[in-house]
Parts: sequence; structure tokens; C-alpha cells
Amino acid sequence: MDKKIILTGDRPTGQLHLGHYVGSLQNRVKLQHEYKQFIMIADVQALTDNAENPEKVRQNVLQVALDYLAVGIDPKISTIFIQSLIPEIAELTIFYLNLVTLARLQRNPTVKDEMKQKGFGSNIPAGFLVYPVSQAADITCFNANLVPVGKDQIPHIEQTAEIVRKFNNVYGHVLVEPQALVPKDENVARLPGTDGKAKMSKSLGNTIYLSDSKDTIYSKIMSMYTDPNHLKVQDPGNIEGNTVFTYLDVFDTNKEYVQELKEHYKRGGLGDVKVKKYLNEVLQNILEPIRIRRQEFEKNPDYVMQILKDSTQVARQEAQKTMQEVRRAMKINYFE
Ligand code: TRP
Repeated sequence: MDKKIILTGDRPTGQLHLGHYVGSLQNRVKLQHEYKQFIMIADVQALTDNAENPEKVRQNVLQVALDYLAVGIDPKISTIFIQSLIPEIAELTIFYLNLVTLARLQRNPTVKDEMKQKGFGSNIPAGFLVYPVSQAADITCFNANLVPVGKDQIPHIEQTAEIVRKFNNVYGHVLVEPQALVPKDENVARLPGTDGKAKMSKSLGNTIYLSDSKDTIYSKIMSMYTDPNHLKVQDPGNIEGNTVFTYLDVFDTNKEYVQELKEHYKRGGLGDVKVKKYLNEVLQNILEPIRIRRQEFEKNPDYVMQILKDSTQVARQEAQKTMQEVRRAMKINYFE
């Protein structure tokens, strides 16, 4: 039987961090054996709000590829490719735009949040507003069944499903309706930043990158947000909203020990520094092998770019097959 298909991706606007790791990368590493997996470096999407920073996007294509390889995405079984080299995606986007209203685009909650965060006001680039439609093309070009992503991407997968239903209704059943795969645990699906804010993001400066050095990780953990009222070691402390404990819940497999630490902290007599030092051990153990693998690949960027080049060709063939069916269904296959 044919394997089911996964498509996911990331914008190459910066290096990937712990939030990406628990929210989606881990799932991709696990699922690559059971599924046929396509992983896209979404440079076209990155350009929708970085049109004036082409160099930044270009450099981060390699950085994101390094992060993928470092966490254990295996290019022999997963197809890692570059979005802009698949013109079929752009073509499909144009057709999908006819099936979506402006009002629907303006209702997408993730786009709304991003608009606020980026301070676009009414000067929003049209390409940015419609990027969820382009994302629908990314996903459906590959007939993906499953899309492993962080929680903020759910509205895009919902919008994709709507477009698929509309398309199939109008033109006949051609497209596959995808499902998002998001970790069940709220903190895993959307890991808070080291400052306790809702989400890790580069612009908030609250991230731990997969490439961070041992010392950088240590100092980021030491300045993490805890219980602001826990001033003296002997005071009882609060674990709700205490980022150090949130991270222990997410990353430490020794749940019993975490429970003991929590009890002790709540009783009083357990200092923040002690808990942070323990979290440091836990995170260093996870990040060290990733960093070492990354450094190996960093020595050979040409090899990494060659992987992208070859895999992109493989991906393009899949997209071409889908486009042929789309054209037939839309009755624009004039000379076939
Ligand atoms: N929007 C995604 C992000 O910001 C990146 C992305 C682009 C994507 N195309 C995709 C994710 C297709 C999943 C499927 O992280």
C-alpha cells in the first residue's frame, strides 16, 4: 500500500529554535519512516514580509536546512526542497485565489496576529495577506494528508481544507483534504519563550536556538522567568506560569523527579538557581548532540546545498503531476 503523505515547512527568516523542535521537528523525525515526507523551505512565503531583505532569506535557506539535518531529518527518506524552485505552487496559488474572498483572508487569526506584531497597519503587502492561499498550494501540490506544525498554523490548515472542498466541489474531486498534526500538550504545541511570554520568537529575544553554544544556553536559562515573588530560598514558590517548571514538564522524561522538585519549591526551601541548573543539565543533554551534528554539516555547505538541489527536482515532479490533474479538472488542458 502507498504510504500516506506529509508536507510541512518553515520560513527561512532565522534559525530554528526549541519551540520548533518540540512543536513540529520532533514529529517530523519520528514520522519520516511511516510517511512519505516533503519538507519545504518556504522562501517565497518568507519574502512576503521580507521583500526588501533578499539576502537574509537566502542565507537562512542554508541555516534552516542545517537545522533539519541536525535534528535527524534524513534526506534519504524525507524530501527537503526549496519553495521558489517549484513554480507549480505559484501557478496553483493563482487559481486558488479565485476561490477565496478578501473577507475570509482578513479573518485568519494568525495573519491578524502577525499583522499586529509586524506593525503593518493598513500598509499590508498584498502578498502577505494571501500567503495562507499559497500555503494551501504548498500542501495540496503534494497531495498531503498530514501537516505536522505548531499551534499557530492551525488556521492555515483549516483555510486549506476549505479551499480543497471548494475546488473539489466546483471542478470535481482532485485534491486531498489535509489534517494538521499538532502536539496535544498545550506547552509543547506552543512553547513559551524564556521570558514566560506566550511564544518563542526571534523578535522578542526569548529564544533558545538549536545552534546555541553551551554557554549561551546556560546564560539564557539562568535569566529565565520564574516566580517574581519568590525572593528568598526559604519562601514558598509558585509553579504556575513558572517557565522553568514549564520547560521541565516539556523536556524532562523523569516525571517523578520533576514532581518532587515542584513539591519542594511550593513548600519553600528550593532556590531558583538550583532548579535552573537542573533544567540546564536536561536541555544540554538534548541540544548537545544536535549542535554537534549541525557543526559537522556546517563544515560542508556545498554538500547541504546539493541535497536541496537534488531533492527539489524530486519534489517538482510530484507537483507537476498534480498540476496536470488540476489543469484537466479546470478545463485548461487545451493541447493535451
Ligand atoms: N507558515 C509556516 C510557518 O510560518 C511555514 C509554511 C509554509 C508551512 N508553507 C507551509 C508549514 C506548508 C506547513 C505547510 O512556520
